[in-house]
Amino acid sequence: MKIALVGYGKMGKAIEKVALEENIEIVAYLTAKERSHSEQIDKADVCVDFSDPKGVLNHVEIFSKMKKNIVIGTTGWEEDLKQVKTLVKKQKVGLLYAPNFSFGMYLFQKLAKMGACIGKKLGFKCALLEMHHQEKKDAPSGSAKKLLSLLSPFYDEKIDIASIRSGAIQGVHQVILNQEDDMIEMTHRIANRAVFARGALAAAQWLIGKVGFFTFEDFIEEISCDFLERSQL
Ligand SMILES: NC(=O)c1ccc[n+]([C@@H]2O[C@H](COP(=O)([O-])OP(=O)(O)OC[C@H]3O[C@@H](n4cnc5c(N)ncnc54)[C@H](OP(=O)(O)O)[C@@H]3O)[C@@H](O)[C@H]2O)c1
Repeated sequence: MKIALVGYGKMGKAIEKVALEENIEIVAYLTAKERSHSEQIDKADVCVDFSDPKGVLNHVEIFSKMKKNIVIGTTGWEEDLKQVKTLVKKQKVGLLYAPNFSFGMYLFQKLAKMGACIGKKLGFKCALLEMHHQEKKDAPSGSAKKLLSLLSPFYDEKIDIASIRSGAIQGVHQVILNQEDDMIEMTHRIANRAVFARGALAAAQWLIGKVGFFTFEDFIEEISCDFLERSQL
């Protein structure tokens, strides 16, 4: 697989490292200051974007016109989602967006949903906490917003989200279910950014030749569908 790397910061560098290990070629680099030429981008099977929320819509405009499939890991651009989906449809390309490319977060979301569903019936209140490094631009995180959208349907009252930005904290997400006498804290933590890089590159490989708007769940559920069917989950 050949990729164009959009954003060469903390995540871009993590992707470059994993790409080297997995024999994935990076044919173009784009940052805020430096842009690869379109001939270089044209060699890519997929463009992988971990850049800045302000650039996402513009990137989708450019790459979809070039008929390139796109993986987006950048978070905090949700207000442009409708326009992005329209472009994907118009240009007939494939685009996969995930606010969190760790397989653990996928599992965490399932467990949290189950906890909220049963917990609500047992009288538990729900709250969310997320912690990230001080340079993270968006708050709450994209993953916290996703958790909120999954858990809110079970509750009539608003679920509170607390965001902490400090030092070099690697992503932590917590779902807190509590009632008067007991409390459950479910926590997902990442150890390093390689986990996101591996997930994003696996999703990029899967996206080759696909048309439409996809999520990380679409990818995971397709690759694990035989297993899920057999286990009746
Ligand atoms: N989905 C996931 O699993 C996941 C995981 C971790 C992080 N993220 C998200 O990924 C994004 C990047 O995170 P990061 O920690 O790598 O940030 P970062 O270290 O600040 O790096 C951002 C990079 O994007 C570049 N950039 C900024 N505006 C751009 C534009 N318009 N076009 C092209 N490149 C542009 C910057 O270029 P310069 O160096 O020239 O300024 C820099 O190289 C954030 O939105 C973050 O929330 C997602």
